Amino acid sequence: MGWNSWNLFACQVSDAVVRAAADSMASNGMKDAGYAFINIDDCWQGKRDAQGNIQGNEKFPNMKALSDYVHSKGLQIGIYSSPGPKTCAGYEGSYQHEEQDARSYAAWGFDYLKYDWCSASEVYKSSDMPAIYKKMGDALQATGRPIVFSLCQYGVNSVWTWGARVGGNLWRTSGDISANYESILALGFAQNPGLERYAGPGHWNDPDMLEVGNGKLTLNENRLHFSLWSLLAAPLLAGNDLAHMSPEVLGVLINPEVIAIDQDPLGVQGHRLWEEGPIDVWVKPLADGSKAVGIFNKGDPQDPVTIQFREIGVGKSARIRDLWEHKDLGHFEGSFTANVPAHGVVLLHVL
Ligand code: GLA
Repeated sequence: MGWNSWNLFACQVSDAVVRAAADSMASNGMKDAGYAFINIDDCWQGKRDAQGNIQGNEKFPNMKALSDYVHSKGLQIGIYSSPGPKTCAGYEGSYQHEEQDARSYAAWGFDYLKYDWCSASEVYKSSDMPAIYKKMGDALQATGRPIVFSLCQYGVNSVWTWGARVGGNLWRTSGDISANYESILALGFAQNPGLERYAGPGHWNDPDMLEVGNGKLTLNENRLHFSLWSLLAAPLLAGNDLAHMSPEVLGVLINPEVIAIDQDPLGVQGHRLWEEGPIDVWVKPLADGSKAVGIFNKGDPQDPVTIQFREIGVGKSARIRDLWEHKDLGHFEGSFTANVPAHGVVLLHVL
């Protein structure tokens, strides 16, 4: 759980933007809710020095000081590079400097690396991916500093089958998300059936960073997005302006009951139970034997939706709690019927 600069700031990211995000996370309830990482995405890199050491650009005058600052807030800090000569935004990549860059990140005190394929496609074949990612995975290991390794190659070559083996802790399962409802539906609901079996503690599918609070997403759409990512046991990397967000958006990002679904220690990614027209029902098994169930309405207003307890694998009678309303709804026999708002979700804890 953390924040990443790309979705909103893109190449407008700077030392000041990163410090402001850390200040906000440490004081607005996000840190207490479990958010831990402040991740710089693309556009921080400057030129290499005479020894080939990567430097920050003019917007990042002192990477070590920035990392110290984020750590002083009780948070961890992440950085970004590419195995290619250039990053996606055209900045210096790690090509032929992999070990040296890993050592720089560790020396600066970084805790997380997102490694984005980008221009690597110009120097390597797609089938080289596992070896190329392993090279950086090994280089990070060799630094002796624990550094989370985030693979970003848009889900090609079934990365979930080899991502963990090359040292990956998470891997993107798709192309880039953008700040609109259609994109969230396309990425979130398109998780290949069966992908859930590759996720688990230490190695997760990543349907991309959150757009909660970005664009023109409504409260229902933000809740749908955050609920689906939580049922997917996805990394929760906020991508909005933490220093200027509405209480409503913050309320979505720090809903403790929804975060508990995402972070449940069993670490099982939820899966789709059924889909019918605009209705999509997902279930996630939890450590204590209970289930989280999301009933989504992707479209216009619909008739109430009924889920049968036998299809979600709970007994005849179950206790149900609504995780957005923070309300115990009571005991139910055999089934439960919900009114699901348009472009929205009813997220339930079924015990
Ligand atoms: C790619 C990645 C994005 C972001 C940009 C930065 O598109 O998928 O998440 O890192 O590059 O240039």
